[in-house]
Amino acid sequence: MRLCKTIPELRSLLKAVRAEGKSIGLVPTMGYLHQGHLSLIREARQRCDVVVVSIFVNPTQFGPQEDFARYPRDLERDAALVAEIGGDVIFAPEATEMYPPGYSTYVEVGGVSEPLCGASRPGHFRGVATVVCKLFNIVRPDIAFFGQKDFQQVLVIRRMVQDLNMDVEIVDVPIVREPDGLALSSRNVYLSPEERKAALVLSRSLNLAREQVAQGQRDISQLKELVISRIKAEPLANIDYVEILSIPDLKPLDKLQDKALLALAVKFGQTRLIDNTVLEA
Ligand code: PAJ
Repeated sequence: MRLCKTIPELRSLLKAVRAEGKSIGLVPTMGYLHQGHLSLIREARQRCDVVVVSIFVNPTQFGPQEDFARYPRDLERDAALVAEIGGDVIFAPEATEMYPPGYSTYVEVGGVSEPLCGASRPGHFRGVATVVCKLFNIVRPDIAFFGQKDFQQVLVIRRMVQDLNMDVEIVDVPIVREPDGLALSSRNVYLSPEERKAALVLSRSLNLAREQVAQGQRDISQLKELVISRIKAEPLANIDYVEILSIPDLKPLDKLQDKALLALAVKFGQTRLIDNTVLEA
């Protein structure tokens, strides 16, 4: 396993890989790896000859009041995990390597980046699209892997790839959960034991909505109300948004016809968690 900290170092390594006709898979992450990240790396391992994992806590996707400074970091532990699972290269640049003085170019994806996390975290997807575009240009992967945990992020990246004619295949991988249902997230370490218990309301309310759909409920506002009242019954939970929107355009719906995205963002103390499920009629 090789650790590259600079763009020229990574480029020369990958030039040799490409010259041998090998395929390159990219798994972009912000590190502090857990089983969700590792499932993306495993998928990449199966599909690509050389697997590059980027580890970069991207400052441009955090708002000024958000947790950039305290976001958990542990490169040594991450490197051991990537090596163990068979990743070939870690790209872990410093912020100045990605955004040197004078940096001025950003990627804005319209439409799908506007609702949900786009509305509650202004500028977030501009930062995500920018750094992912840069990573695609630096690594030039054949395939890039993203988790359905960040469902809207996958839609934003797919839109960018299509609109800007990027020559990369996007593969999305299912959400990995703890045995009790909580979706894995690097931010789960922020939760107190009480908040950790309260956070189960996320997966439980998603399950409740799925059960209602299985029993024939098709009315979007009733499904939404059901989820909202289930979450409000948990005193430690503070709703940021609960939305049911069309896939892949993320437009409002009245009736569930084919499938729709049920997406949640809820705060427990200072910690904001997201989760989602696809409702299928
Ligand atoms: P990060 O939150 O570190 O997540 C990296 C990748 O892991 C994302 O594609 C995310 O959807 C996926 N992931 C996280 N938790 C998961 C889970 N429980 N199950 C399955 N996949 C999961 O997302 C980012 O970083 C950044 O925005 C990034 C794309 C790296 C750009 O900076």
